[in-house]
Amino acid sequence: MLIPVIMSGGAGTRLWPVSRKAHPKPFMRLADGQTLAASTIRRALAVGDAPVTLTVTGRDYYFLTRDEYQAVDSSADHRFLLEPEGRNTAPAIAAAALWAEQLYGPDTRLLIMPADHLIRDLDAFSEAVAHAEALAADGWLTCLGVTPTHAETGYGYIRSGQGIGEHGREIRAFVEKPDQDTARRYFESGEYLWNAGMFCFRADAILAALETHAGDILEQVRATWAETDAEAAPVELDAERFARVRPDSIDFAVMEKAERRAVVPVDCGWSDIGSWQAISDLYETDALGNRVQGEAVLVDTRNTFVQGEKRLVAAVGVDNLVIVDTGDAVLVATRDRAQEVKAVVEELTRNN
Ligand code: GDD
Ligand code: MG
Repeated sequence: MLIPVIMSGGAGTRLWPVSRKAHPKPFMRLADGQTLAASTIRRALAVGDAPVTLTVTGRDYYFLTRDEYQAVDSSADHRFLLEPEGRNTAPAIAAAALWAEQLYGPDTRLLIMPADHLIRDLDAFSEAVAHAEALAADGWLTCLGVTPTHAETGYGYIRSGQGIGEHGREIRAFVEKPDQDTARRYFESGEYLWNAGMFCFRADAILAALETHAGDILEQVRATWAETDAEAAPVELDAERFARVRPDSIDFAVMEKAERRAVVPVDCGWSDIGSWQAISDLYETDALGNRVQGEAVLVDTRNTFVQGEKRLVAAVGVDNLVIVDTGDAVLVATRDRAQEVKAVVEELTRNN
């Protein structure tokens, strides 16, 4: 049985002012009018063969997420594991594996899916998931790999080795978020794939790997689980216990170190939608390279992305800008530095 497990951790500060604590990235509407949360659950329902889906998310996002899902499919059984506070993906995945083991058995396959990615080719994705599940059933910790397009430092890099079956490869090295020089070297070598952040493994296999490589995390999550009512709907992780868990990502805690890791390369129009630049790439440009969402008047303006929600936006004589207006905040940045909006959020958090 393959259970889709959606990981939804919140904020997405590089998409301020639209993505905020109270309205994080999965709930942003994209070019097709859908939220990322809605497309993700649709994708999950398409690939899973289990009677349920599982979403691990913060307490505060429960109602918002559940309503999004119900609008997509009100008859599906959407289960939730709620965190009192985020401890990054390793604890969240550990809790999901304990849940699956208890309710459906140790050989249940989990498909870990981030809540905030875009996948354009659902058929290619489903096919890759089927291959990943076959490897996972054999005990491999499997991830999906995509071909890098630039020397991004925000991703994991995978160097693959021998083929396993027709569609998978053994992982020789997994390097999470390398520095700029290393990322450039990896990208230029043409020998690496990006980790797409989607994993498939058996519940018992990931628990065993956590035991070996992040034993303290697993121990604390087990202690949390012992105090948690697994039958409740939604399941709420015991706050006092979970607060003691060391935060770490599954990439650093397990994937960089584990044995029996595999990758299934996939070309499915994947995008992590991490920045305004990535969002603006989703829209068609006009003859001058501008992309507009909402109402805007652009005079002698080029290569500029405008997203206005409530007011008319006007620009004259500018080039290469990102302008995002939400009614109570305006972002103006040059396209190539739009990632740095993260610093704005840090500044705002410091002053509040
Ligand atoms: N429930 C829960 N709790 N979800 C979380 C938490 C948490 O504490 N922290 C993060 N998540 C969710 C995020 O919302 C996202 O959907 C997913 O888990 C991955 O976390 P990110 O924080 O976005 O990770 P990343 O983008 O820096 O890196 C990961 O994804 C890259 C691809 O997008 C890694 O897996 C990289 O190796 C990978 O290349
Ligand atoms: Mg991410």
